[in-house]
Amino acid sequence: MSQYFDEHSEPEATRRDAGDAESTRASRGWWDRNADEYQNEHGAFLGDDRFVWGPEGLDEAEARLLGEVKGLDVLEIGAGAAQCSRWLAAQGARPVALDLSHRQLQHALRIGGDVPLVEADAGALPFRTASFDVVCSAYGAVPFVADPVAVFREVRRVLRPGGRWVFSVTHPIRWAFPDEPGPEGLSVAASYFDRTPYVEQDEQGEAVYVEHHRTIGDRVRDVVAGGFRLVDLVEPEWPAWNSQEWGGWSPLRGNLIPGTAIFVCERA
Ligand SMILES: C[S@@+](CC[C@H](N)C(=O)[O-])C[C@H]1O[C@@H](n2cnc3c(N)ncnc32)[C@H](O)[C@@H]1O
Repeated sequence: MSQYFDEHSEPEATRRDAGDAESTRASRGWWDRNADEYQNEHGAFLGDDRFVWGPEGLDEAEARLLGEVKGLDVLEIGAGAAQCSRWLAAQGARPVALDLSHRQLQHALRIGGDVPLVEADAGALPFRTASFDVVCSAYGAVPFVADPVAVFREVRRVLRPGGRWVFSVTHPIRWAFPDEPGPEGLSVAASYFDRTPYVEQDEQGEAVYVEHHRTIGDRVRDVVAGGFRLVDLVEPEWPAWNSQEWGGWSPLRGNLIPGTAIFVCERA
């Protein structure tokens, strides 16, 4: 199953190549169909106006990976219902929330606030060069695209010199383990080095969900190839206060292996 929650009708899960266009088409459809359930299931944990980096609950209010954002132009990629952007606005930033999924952005409208919303693909950002001081993404877009370097180059293009790009993704080590919150999720079941995408497809063989794996080394090389310096790589530990499971993320696994990797990058 895709790792965000259970779907009602189960497509076939496989490992096969999936290019850019197919991955993007699958993501748009999947998030449009599943946005209601995602927000219903995770909305309370995310909060309407908190900036949470992942299922561990690391909060930007505490982590401060973006630096001081007051007065800055900030783009959030794969914003979902724009919870993070609402927090950024409350800090005095000027956020723009971008997502591929129309339905996710409708949830942003439902929650409210006056953050500008943009429906677009992270691989083709509809902004002028050097429009933003900071670009951020909490599990948005990066795990789902076939060509992350193309996204990073777009991010670099819209960033001003010295700008910061901070994004979280599933920690690459998770690829090797079954996506289960319990003890069955603690034994290696696949090669960490196998980059073949995880694909769920319908009866016609059309991808309906795609997730792309990169090793830690791949991600570092991608960041550099995209024109960034890697400033920090944060692996949030599972905090004692968090008893909530999120798909395959759980206190049991979170206390043993990392679940999220946050890349803090600066425009080189
Ligand atoms: C796991 S959700 C995260 C949403 C939000 N950041 C949060 O923390 O709740 C991933 C989001 O990325 C968006 N997304 C996936 N592929 C994308 C792409 N190529 N361009 C822009 N957004 C994309 C999805 O529509 C979805 O809203």
